[in-house]
Amino acid sequence: MKTAPPSHVHVLKSRTDICTEEEVTRLVHTFYAAARDDAMLGPVFGREVKNWDEHLATLVDFWSGLLRGTMRYHGKPLAQHAQMENLTPCMFRRWLTLFFATTESMGNAALQEKADSIALRIAERLWKSFAENHFPENETPHGALEDAPAA
Ligand code: HEM
Repeated sequence: MKTAPPSHVHVLKSRTDICTEEEVTRLVHTFYAAARDDAMLGPVFGREVKNWDEHLATLVDFWSGLLRGTMRYHGKPLAQHAQMENLTPCMFRRWLTLFFATTESMGNAALQEKADSIALRIAERLWKSFAENHFPENETPHGALEDAPAA
């Protein structure tokens, strides 16, 4: 008698099926080209990123892990962003606006939905950890991420 595979097998399969590795690479490269070109975010990336090939390769691993379950990324983005200078909720909103426009342009609804909701969740976490590091008394001069105007 044939038994059905355990349910986690289906979960893992559907996760890799959301998009291809080529789509992850396209998403990351298109998004960071727009971010580098952006009046608000461009200067931050220009100041902080020393090696763009490395940054893009890291971010492809990061998104491949989140969207395809490949588990290639082992970094610490919370700590890295918390150490940056002068980030604001407006910048995170702008980051999200560009990211949402990029996922929309890809023509893959499953990828768009999954990537957008993950990005929003992580952006909120990154902002919270940045604010805790820079404004320990919880007196942020810029308020919460969700209060910032959409850029
Ligand atoms: C205001 C918004 C943001 C800015 C200005 C920003 C900027 C940066 C910069 C400058 C780096 C360092 C690159 C390097 O040293 O080569 C970095 C790394 C990274 N960022 Fe962001 N970021 C933002 C939001 C986000 C969001 C929302 C995510 C995820 C959804 C994200 C994910 C990452 C990851 C995974 C890394 C790599 C960390 C590592 O090296 O392990 N970032 N970001």
